[in-house]
Amino acid sequence: MAKLLLLSLALAEAQVDPKYATEVTVYHVHPANVSSIPMDMDTGDAEGDLFFFLDEFLLPLQCADPKYFWDKFECKNPERSGQLVATQLKLQVDSRFSNYSGCNLCDGVDPFTRKPCEAGTYTCDCMDFLHPENCDHQFVGRETVTHQFVHDVTDECKESLEESCGHARYSKWCKFCLFRHKEVLKNSSCSKEAINYCPGFGFPLCTADSKDVDCWHVNIARKTRGLWYSTFRDGFCDGNKPCSWQVVQQRTVPERCLREKVVGVVEASNPSCFDGCGARNQTSPCWVRCFFTTVLGPEAHNSTIVTGMPLAELTGAWTKAFEACESTGSDAPHSLVV
Ligand SMILES: *[C@@H]1O[C@H](CO)[C@@H](O)[C@H](O)[C@H]1NC(C)=O
Ligand SMILES: *[C@@H]1O[C@H](CO)[C@@H](O)[C@H](O)[C@H]1NC(C)=O
Ligand SMILES: *[C@@H]1O[C@H](CO)[C@@H](O)[C@H](O)[C@H]1NC(C)=O
Ligand SMILES: *[C@@H]1O[C@H](CO)[C@@H](O)[C@H](O)[C@H]1NC(C)=O
Ligand SMILES: *[C@@H]1O[C@H](CO)[C@@H](O)[C@H](O)[C@H]1NC(C)=O
Repeated sequence: MAKLLLLSLALAEAQVDPKYATEVTVYHVHPANVSSIPMDMDTGDAEGDLFFFLDEFLLPLQCADPKYFWDKFECKNPERSGQLVATQLKLQVDSRFSNYSGCNLCDGVDPFTRKPCEAGTYTCDCMDFLHPENCDHQFVGRETVTHQFVHDVTDECKESLEESCGHARYSKWCKFCLFRHKEVLKNSSCSKEAINYCPGFGFPLCTADSKDVDCWHVNIARKTRGLWYSTFRDGFCDGNKPCSWQVVQQRTVPERCLREKVVGVVEASNPSCFDGCGARNQTSPCWVRCFFTTVLGPEAHNSTIVTGMPLAELTGAWTKAFEACESTGSDAPHSLVV
C-alpha cells in the first residue's frame, strides 16, 4: 500500500491544485513565430481581447497624426503588425488570482520601464509599479478591463480642465498647465485621474474637446469590458513544482480571417454608412469613422456615451471565427516548444 502510494505520487504530473481549479477560455493575438502558449503573456476573455483587438482599427488615424508624438508604442507594437495569428485557449487555472501585469513582446527595450530586455522574448511589468510584489508570478494575474482602463472625472472637473488647459491639451505643456492650475482643478472636484486629460502613454480622458481617436480608444473599453489575464512562466505546470495554469485545449487561426469575420458583422450592421465610403479601405478616415460609429454609437467620438451594435454580435463573430477559420495546424497542447 505504502509503495503504491509513493509510486502514484512520483508519477503525478505538476497540476493545478484541484481544490482551486477552474476552467477559463482566453484569447490572444500574436506574431505567427512566437509561442501560442501564453508564457509570460497577457490574454483576455472574448470581451477583454476584443478590447485590445478593436483598437487596431483606429491605429491608421492615430499613427498618421504627426501630433501624436508621445505614444507611438501601439504603432510599432510587434503584436499589431506583420504575420499575425490568433489563439483560443482553454486553460485550467488556479482561481486564487493575483494582479495583472503588462506583458509585451520585447523589441530590445521594455515599453514600460525603458530598461533593456531580450528582443523576441516577452517581459511582464506589474501595473502597480511601486509594489511589484502585488503581482505574484506563481499565480495567474487577472484584472477587469473596466478597473484597469476605464477612468473618468466629474463633469465639473472636465469643464474646469477645458477652461484651464484646453488650449494646451495637445501640446507638450499640458501636464505643466495642469500643475499650474492644480488649485482650481482641486476646487472643481478633480481626482488624480485628471492627469489623464493630457494624452500620453495609456488612456486619456474622453471630453468634448478630445480627438475622436482618443475617445474611441477609451470607449472601446466601456463597450467590451471583460477580463485580462497574465499567465506567468513561473506558474506554468511543467515539471514537479506547484503551478497555477495549464493548457487543456487550443486552436490557432490566421488573424486576417478573424479580422474578416469581425469586420463582416460590423459592415453588415450599418451598410449605408460604409457604402458612403466607396470601396472598402480600412485605413481611410471615412471607413474608420463608420466602423467606430457602428460599434460604439454616434456620440462616442466626443463623449463617454457608448451605444452602437450589440456586444453579443461582436463576441459572437469573434468566437465563431475560431471554428470557421482554418486552423494554422498547431493545436496540440502537448507540442510545447517554448
Ligand atoms: C493586488 O494588488 C492590490 C493593490 O492594488 C493588493 O492589495 C492585493 O493584495 C494584490 N493581490 C495579490 C493577490 O497580490
Ligand atoms: C519573428 O519574425 C520577425 C519578422 O517577421 C522577426 O523580426 C523576429 O525576430 C522573429 N521572432 C522570433 C522569435 O523568431
Ligand atoms: C479654492 O476653494 C477655496 C475654498 O472654497 C478658496 O478659498 C480658494 O480661493 C479656491 N482656490 C482657487 C484657486 O480657486
Ligand atoms: C459632439 O459631436 C456632435 C457631432 O457628432 C456635435 O453635434 C456636438 O456638438 C459635439 N458635442 C460637443 C459637446 O462638442
Ligand atoms: C486608403 O486610404 C488611405 C488613407 O486615406 C490612402 O492613403 C490609401 O491610398 C487608400 N488606399 C486605397 C487602395 O485607396
